[in-house]
Amino acid sequence: MVGTQNLKHRGVKDGIGKHQQSILPVSSSLASSPVSVSGEESKNRRGFHSSLFNCWISKQYLLILMVGMLLGYVMLPLMLVETNSFTFFGQIQQKENLFAGSSTRGLVDKNNIQMRLMEDQHILSRQSLPTDRSPLVMETAVLSDHRRKKILVTGGAGFVGSHLVDKLMMEGHEVTVLDNLFTGQKKNVAHWFHHPNFNLVIHDVTEPIHLEIDEIYHLACPASPPHYQFNPVKTIKTSTMGTLNMLGLARRVRAKVLLTSTSEIYGDPQVHPQSEDYWGNVNIIGPRSCYDEGKRVAETMMYSYKNQNKVEVRVARIFNTFGPRMHPNDGRVVSNFIIQALQNKPLTVYGKGEQTRSFQYVSDLVDGLHALMNGDYDGPVNLGNPDEFTMKDFAEYVKKLTKSDSEIRFLEKTEDDPSKRKPDISLAKEVLGWAPKVSVEMGLTKTISYFQSVLDEAGEIIPTGPGASKPQN
Ligand SMILES: NC(=O)c1ccc[n+]([C@@H]2O[C@H](COP(=O)([O-])OP(=O)(O)OC[C@H]3O[C@@H](n4cnc5c(N)ncnc54)[C@H](O)[C@@H]3O)[C@@H](O)[C@H]2O)c1
Repeated sequence: MVGTQNLKHRGVKDGIGKHQQSILPVSSSLASSPVSVSGEESKNRRGFHSSLFNCWISKQYLLILMVGMLLGYVMLPLMLVETNSFTFFGQIQQKENLFAGSSTRGLVDKNNIQMRLMEDQHILSRQSLPTDRSPLVMETAVLSDHRRKKILVTGGAGFVGSHLVDKLMMEGHEVTVLDNLFTGQKKNVAHWFHHPNFNLVIHDVTEPIHLEIDEIYHLACPASPPHYQFNPVKTIKTSTMGTLNMLGLARRVRAKVLLTSTSEIYGDPQVHPQSEDYWGNVNIIGPRSCYDEGKRVAETMMYSYKNQNKVEVRVARIFNTFGPRMHPNDGRVVSNFIIQALQNKPLTVYGKGEQTRSFQYVSDLVDGLHALMNGDYDGPVNLGNPDEFTMKDFAEYVKKLTKSDSEIRFLEKTEDDPSKRKPDISLAKEVLGWAPKVSVEMGLTKTISYFQSVLDEAGEIIPTGPGASKPQN
């Protein structure tokens, strides 16, 4: 580019020099004439000289005009042709067609397009593009080849997965999202589509896959009760066959693998708060067992592969998590209460509302998963916020934060709904140096404004009830 510009400047300069040479001999020969002359003759000569001078001036104008024309009609189009052939020829060609019409306007627009494309190229290599759902532009780090890891995130188009992908991408790693889009949505990761470090593979984890990777965050599995109960057999397959496939892949390519297990493995707990050494109280054949037992056997598989095949494993037991990009129809308590409150519809509480839950904000969970993967501890670790609410109090809290007039409506208790849930996070503090940082109030404020934007777009959302249901996009 710089070279071609230099060439262009040289061409213009040479042209002017040549014209000056053809003019100067005429004037200089007249000015330096040695012959002496009389008064009349000298007047005539002055007249003759001034007409010659005028003629010389008009020639100068003519030449300047010609140089101007040369610049305008030859060099400028040349510049555009040269810049077209630089990088974005195809794209500029396409956009040029849009501007076919007034030639002056066409030239100005072409220059603007060129500028835009140059800016875009910078964005393409370093930044996310803002979308409606993720309006912040995120500038990624650039890692040297030996520090950049190839990371697979199964379920990366889902709620938690997409936030984890943001963190890994921003660190400068190469991230492959593998997702069958059952409850995940492409728009959750749409802001990374153009980025050279990002790949999206639409694939079901129950089918084997061969990839070259260094780490696997294995999240793929529907997490909300209505969605995992919609097709219980598939949920069991996802947890069991999916985890086997990921462990097989990890063994083949010597990758480290992290499983997102759940507080549901404690079932309806008889120990409070729940610590990692509690073995749980799960109904083996209840409506939640496809998920609970699926995750329990997935944990068993992780440690079998560790012991038998020396696969490096990590297991996170996640407690209720909330934040932007939760599926509006996933029927979980936080999204349901917020959506109902924002629409001034009744907040539906199942049972007397005395059951307790503790809620962590998604960025805290993502930090915890990251610390677990990158630390040395390989036993199961609870990740959650011990701030505990009864469902009745939580409904009041959401009403207050949304300034809603909704009533609270009590419905029949759902089967096997755990009565208490609160993590003991002393192990996470000790081995990972991790503890939640975002207060429930702060997290809810962000989530409320997210769901407000989803509602503005959708018009109305009817939250999913407790029964099995297919995700509605
Ligand atoms: N969010 C929570 O409160 C919570 C609590 C405990 C555990 N977890 C665990 O964290 C993980 C992520 O949960 P989430 O809240 O983001 O749920 P989510 O439903 O938003 O995300 C799950 C993702 O997995 C994908 N998926 C499902 N089945 C798949 C299959 N067979 N093949 C490929 N992709 C598949 C979905 O399309 C979705 O993108 C899950 O493993 C879940 O069990 C979440």
